[in-house]
Amino acid sequence: MPTLRLGDDAPDFTAETTEGTLNFHEWKGDSWAILFSHPKDFTPVCTTELGRVAGLKPEWDKRNVKVIGISVDTSESHEGWAQDIKDVTGNDLNFPLISDPDKKVADLYDMIQPNASDTMTVRSVFVIGPDNKLKLSLTYPASTGRNFDEILRVIDSLQLTAKYKVATPVDWKDGDDVIITGAVSNEDAAVQFPGYTTVKPYLRTTPQPK
Ligand code: BEZ
Repeated sequence: MPTLRLGDDAPDFTAETTEGTLNFHEWKGDSWAILFSHPKDFTPVCTTELGRVAGLKPEWDKRNVKVIGISVDTSESHEGWAQDIKDVTGNDLNFPLISDPDKKVADLYDMIQPNASDTMTVRSVFVIGPDNKLKLSLTYPASTGRNFDEILRVIDSLQLTAKYKVATPVDWKDGDDVIITGAVSNEDAAVQFPGYTTVKPYLRTTPQPK
């Protein structure tokens, strides 16, 4: 099983989803994307997670992020479960859910981790950039629901640091000060980030560029 690492190409695939058959790279285009797996339909933690992801649609749209879910359950099962998600969270399933009963996509992305479960996908999150490269991966166990505020926070950081020569410090949130990367000389920093602060020679901060 090839391990997917940051900076690798996100593997392409064609799969059945609740929105019909789609080719991942075609569907994604040059947007950002989140591919996330859940272990099983009609289970409590997964129901809360999928409802929350659906409720965050305005936030994904604002950041040009397309979201797609996956489990080894069938599209029929996904479609039946969508009503429960709506009942519980008030949100319609507004993104495609891949059905992967033969584990084709799950295997490509190493979402079956046999020492956790050899039948269900773990809770994986892959954030993929406009260049189709892997920017972030997270793996949670079935017993722990993910924090999608954190995933939005990371996307804000990824999008900012793709545009400017900055990095984001611990617990950073959109709007907080950022760190000027070591690739920028003090001379250039004075031009690019006038009035920046030197906390240590290797730690220079500046208000978040707009
Ligand atoms: C859940 O979503 O609640 C769940 C799914 C699979 C195993 C355990 C919990």
